[in-house]
Amino acid sequence: MNKKQELKKIERKIMSCKKCRLHKTRHKAVPGEGIINPKYMFVGIAPGKEEDLTGKPFIGKSGKFLDFLLKQNNIDRSKCFITSVIKCHPPKNRMPKQEEINACLRYLIKQIEIVNPDIIVCLGKLPEKVIKNLKLKTKIFYTYHPSAGMRFPKIKEKMIKDFKKLKELDPGSQY
Ligand code: URA
Ligand code: SF4
Repeated sequence: MNKKQELKKIERKIMSCKKCRLHKTRHKAVPGEGIINPKYMFVGIAPGKEEDLTGKPFIGKSGKFLDFLLKQNNIDRSKCFITSVIKCHPPKNRMPKQEEINACLRYLIKQIEIVNPDIIVCLGKLPEKVIKNLKLKTKIFYTYHPSAGMRFPKIKEKMIKDFKKLKELDPGSQY
C-alpha cells in the first residue's frame, strides 16, 4: 500500500469510527485533507458545525480566517494538510473531553506519520498540549486558534505576525 492509500484507509476508518460517544451526534466525521509530505500540517481542535455537515476541515468562519492568513502569506492551502485533534464535532462546540481525545489520538498520530510534514502548526492550546506530548522529531510551530483570532483583535494581530514568521521559516518556498 502506498502512502496515499494508507491515508485513505485511515480516512475510511475515521468516517465509520464509533470509538467515542461523539459518533452518536456527528453528521460526518472530518478526517482532514491535504497532501503527503507538505511543508505545513495544521492541527485544529475539533470540527465545527459546518465541518460536521460537510465532512471538510476548516470551511466555516474559522476556516475563512485561516484562508485569509494563508493567502496573506502566499501559502497554498491545497499544498498543506489540514486536520484537527478530534475528528467529530462536539455538541454546541464544547471543548473535547479527555476520553474523546484519547480515543481519537491514534488517528492523528497515524496521519502525522503518513503525511510527514516539515512543520506541524498547532492552532490553539489543545493541539499544542496534545502534540507536545507526542515528543515528535518534527518541527512544531505554535499559534492561536483562528476562532480566537477572529474574535479578539489583539490575537488577530498576533496571528498575522505568527503566520509571517511561519512563512519565513520557509524562505524560497514555491508555496
Ligand atoms: N475548528 C477546528 O479546530 N477545526 C475545524 O475543522 C474547524 C474549526
Ligand atoms: Fe472516533 Fe474520533 Fe469521532 Fe470519537 S471523535 S467517534 S474517536 S473519529
